[in-house]
Parts: sequence; structure tokens; C-alpha cells
Amino acid sequence: MDDETVQGAEKVVEGDRSLNAPFAEGELCLLIDPKGRRHTLRLDRRQHFHHPRFGRLDHSEIIGKPAGFRLKGPHLSEVTCLRPTLDDYIMSRLKRRTQIIYPKDLGPLLLWGDIFPGARVLESGIGSGSATLVLMRYLCGGELISYERREEFAQLTLRTLSEFQSLYGKLATRHKVEVRDVYEGIDERDLDAILLDVPEPHQAVQHAAQALRPGGNLLSWLPTTLQVYTLVRALQQAPCWSEILTREVLVRPWDVSEGSIRPAHRMVAHTGFLIRARRVEPLELASAEPVG
Ligand SMILES: C[S@@+](CC[C@H](N)C(=O)[O-])C[C@H]1O[C@@H](n2cnc3c(N)ncnc32)[C@H](O)[C@@H]1O
Repeated sequence: MDDETVQGAEKVVEGDRSLNAPFAEGELCLLIDPKGRRHTLRLDRRQHFHHPRFGRLDHSEIIGKPAGFRLKGPHLSEVTCLRPTLDDYIMSRLKRRTQIIYPKDLGPLLLWGDIFPGARVLESGIGSGSATLVLMRYLCGGELISYERREEFAQLTLRTLSEFQSLYGKLATRHKVEVRDVYEGIDERDLDAILLDVPEPHQAVQHAAQALRPGGNLLSWLPTTLQVYTLVRALQQAPCWSEILTREVLVRPWDVSEGSIRPAHRMVAHTGFLIRARRVEPLELASAEPVG
């Protein structure tokens, strides 16, 4: 096994980036301030961070330190500096020009869509690229094709991907963006999964059935119940879908401190519904006589 891919080995690498390397100029740093607030800094020797309880912290004090570096300031205040995770990057750095699929929904979508390293997947539309980034990281060695109707969103996501890879290392997934309408057809065949994040996914159901391999997964993310009804009825009425599941993921954070455990006052509740269906063959008539 390639020792660069083994967690706990001397060198932990993602893409061409060593995760053991100290912070470098130009990198992103997730700084957690004395009140637990999170700030994403682009490290620049000429810049500084300021917090009323902690005071001034020059970026040059972070550059060269290991990720996870903590610093104690006056009045028991402290800051922690980490590399942002993919979740942090999407929530705090990604330029949003459209609704995005949140990380809380993308995690389950990966599992329910059976996304594996090496798979071939199509997504439509690309929007701000949140799903694109997550798919590209987990397809690792596979292929992602993105159909997007609007050139400006295709360009926006290409810029995001370029920034992400300059910061985090090159992603090992082949990627192709096509500016086109998914309702008009899908050219690819034998895909492992398709993710539809468009307003009327029922218009692409027939194309998806032709493009997926037998047993492949159709996924959709939809914000409203009317959209869910229209898509699920279209799937139920076609002969080639099974295992049609409609789910919603509600994530409730909890606050735990000495002598107190309780749900946090705020949560992001509804974002969207997740639909999953598997492509099957039409029913055949059994030749055997029924028992009894
Ligand atoms: C909600 S955004 C997608 C967000 C994206 N999944 C993300 O996580 O950032 C919906 C996108 O679908 C695109 N779109 C809408 N209808 C389309 C169609 N028929 N074919 C291709 N793209 C379409 C829109 O232009 C928009 O960029």
C-alpha cells in the first residue's frame, strides 16, 4: 500500500498537499476565538487578527506553526488555529449564488447513493458547486459530469474548484462541465449514480433511467413537498424504479458543559428532502405456478 495514503503514517497527504506541513503563507486557517466563534483567515504576513479579549495576533505568528496550534493570551483567553475541513470550506468560504446542498444532507446522500471511489456520476445543476466539491472528493479516481443550464454558474463553480485545489491539493476525480439542459436528455450511459438538484427533476426521470446502469442510484434534493410529490409519483408510475425513499435530515446540535447538557437554542432545521430510487428492470412474468 502507498504509505502516503495511510492515516497515522509519517506523512498524511490529501491530493498533493501534506497535512502534516506547518501553516504556509496564502493558506486558509480556521481560527477559533476566545468566545468559540470561527473565523476563516487567508494567511498573509502583512495582516493581523484582532479580538477584544485576546488582542492582536499577527498572521506571521501562525505561519510556520503546525495545524492545531493554540495560543494563550491575557485574561485566560486563547485561540486555536486549524486547517478548515471541507465542511468548514463549504459553510464559510464557498461563494453562494444559488441555494446549495448543505453538508448535513451531502453526507447521507453519499451513502444512500452508494457513491464509491472510482464511480461515474452525473450531477445537474452545478449551482454554486457545494455538491460538486463533495462528489469530487469522494469519487476519488472516478468521474463526475456536471450539466448546468447557466454558463455563469458553470464558470462560478470552475473558479471555486480552482481555488479549492490550489489550497487543498489536486482532486483525483476527472471532471467535465457541460452547459446544457438536463430535461433535454443525458448522453452518458452506464452511470453509477445521478444527482438531480433542479426545480423539476421529474422532467429528467426518463433520461436518467436510460443513463443509469441496472441497480444504479438516482438521487434528488428538493426543498418543497409539492416537488417531492411530483417526482415520487413520476418514479412510482414508471416501470424501472424501485426502493424509492423520501427522507429528511434534521441535525440538532447539543451544548455540553460542566453540570449542563441541553439542545442548542438554534438549529438549521429544514433544508430539503432527499429522494433516492434504484434503477431496475421492468417486471417479468414468472413461469412457475403460484404455491397453494
Ligand atoms: C439549487 S442550484 C444547484 C446547487 C448545487 N447542487 C450546489 O450544491 O451548490 C440549481 C442549479 O440548477 C440549474 N438548472 C436548473 N434547471 C436546469 C436544467 N433543466 N438543466 C441544467 N441545469 C439546470 C440552475 O441554473 C442552478 O444552477
